[in-house]
Amino acid sequence: MSNVMIQGIISRRTIRKFDGRDISEDVMEDLLKAGMAAPTAFDARPWHFVAIQNRAMMSSLAAAMPGCEMCAQTASAVLVCADASTEKLPGIWVQDCSACSQNIQLAAHAHSLGAVWLAIYLVEERVQAVRSLLSIPMAITPFALIAVGYPAESGAMVDRFLHDRIHRDRW
Ligand SMILES: Cc1cc2nc3c(=O)[nH]c(=O)nc-3n(C[C@H](O)[C@H](O)[C@H](O)COP(=O)(O)O)c2cc1C
Repeated sequence: MSNVMIQGIISRRTIRKFDGRDISEDVMEDLLKAGMAAPTAFDARPWHFVAIQNRAMMSSLAAAMPGCEMCAQTASAVLVCADASTEKLPGIWVQDCSACSQNIQLAAHAHSLGAVWLAIYLVEERVQAVRSLLSIPMAITPFALIAVGYPAESGAMVDRFLHDRIHRDRW
């Protein structure tokens, strides 16, 4: 595993404890650039992003969304959203937004930040909370909240490579 990029992909872990230090605007911009660089079906780029750099807002999100209490430990997050009206193949935006979300996590890791992908789409009480707190229009679907900050825990390296899940040439 000599390649820096592969090393980064494999060593990324979800971080749910943050030390409270602020991330800079430059770093936030890198995260957004990484999100927008993701591949999308038909290059439709159906995404919108809400860049949050606001400790009070993160505390409100933590209080409003069960399971998202770690949001109170950081000032920063990116809400990945979709404008599904732009898509050519109905429903494919979920794959587009997943690629964006993963890119944002990897960019955070490249900056030695920690990040956790918090599901919003399909979790109705979280959808309502972000719509209300972040003023998301009804035509826009909030997909995932990626909370980001300086890590206060380290994720262990795990080996998930499974030979028996690989089917060579045919199943
Ligand atoms: C689609 C998706 C939704 C997730 N939702 C949550 C969530 O709501 N809360 C949470 O703490 N982690 C969430 N995670 C993070 C996963 O729990 C985590 O990626 C998984 O346990 C594997 O750990 P790793 O990221 O360190 O490899 C989500 C991850 C994905 C890909």
